[in-house]
Amino acid sequence: MNAITSDRSLPPLADHSCPSPSALSPYYEKGDQLREKHQRSNMASGRCFERWALDLLPLQSKEAVLDAGCGWGRFSWPLVEKYGLASIGVTCCDSSYGMLRTAAKEAARRGHSPQFIAADILSLPFPAGSFDGAMANHVLYHLSDIRDGIRELARVLRQEGWLLATTNSDEVSVPVLEYHYAALDELGIDYSRESSSPFSMENGRQLLESSFEVVHTFYFEDETLYHSADEFLASYMTIGRYRNLLARAEVSREAKEGLPRLVRQKAEETIREHGVLCSPVRIGAFVCSEPTE
Ligand SMILES: C[S@@+](CC[C@H](N)C(=O)[O-])C[C@H]1O[C@@H](n2cnc3c(N)ncnc32)[C@H](O)[C@@H]1O
Repeated sequence: MNAITSDRSLPPLADHSCPSPSALSPYYEKGDQLREKHQRSNMASGRCFERWALDLLPLQSKEAVLDAGCGWGRFSWPLVEKYGLASIGVTCCDSSYGMLRTAAKEAARRGHSPQFIAADILSLPFPAGSFDGAMANHVLYHLSDIRDGIRELARVLRQEGWLLATTNSDEVSVPVLEYHYAALDELGIDYSRESSSPFSMENGRQLLESSFEVVHTFYFEDETLYHSADEFLASYMTIGRYRNLLARAEVSREAKEGLPRLVRQKAEETIREHGVLCSPVRIGAFVCSEPTE
């Protein structure tokens, strides 16, 4: 089945002047890789990050919730399946049409009917006070103006509304990125590496406090374990930094082929030495209330 045929079965996607697809990272042009990445990240403790974060919220079944920068919808579906919200009350918004198509297919597969809207968080197409709750999970670091995006999220909330914003900590170094950058160095491939994230567990609270009176911080610490180099490589091949590199026209085919080979080799060396490759997880959530906009 080609893409056009399968798209016919999807609900119409409302379009509200979101950026052209070229403004987005190639990784976000479709949702399949992101979904596979999330489905592969099993915590050693058996906990589920999405459930842990949603459990922090005062969720009620009749609420209208916005999932801003929804991706393939990993936070939207539990709202319906585990917390009893009506799917019609959930609005999935993303600036990538491809990501929304993946989310819409996922919703259809699960029998849900949320609203789908293509829009930028910096300019949400909703009147003030439209939602009881909003989520901006692992997305605020992408915005060109984070304070403006947070102000926009606060604006669309009712006075008693809440915001959930999840993100990564800057205080952890994960093997998948360390091996990636070490392999780029060995292959002589140019890259730029940010020293810190523009929206992290360390700096996020201050940014959120510009539009919310109350901001609570919660850390989620765990680890993921890899018992084989192939298992690690399969995970590596779903990350944005690797997929975006494959889209770079100036990088040679040899270098693109050499990269996963080198990453796999590094994982194999660690597993040979320690019996297992242990990747620390340090991420978390901010729960905000009393919007000031
Ligand atoms: C790392 S993914 C997170 C997806 C989802 N929230 C999750 O936690 O699984 C980031 C998502 O934000 C979307 N995105 C990036 N910039 C955006 C913007 N300015 N407005 C709306 N969505 C955006 C991307 O297309 C992508 O789907």
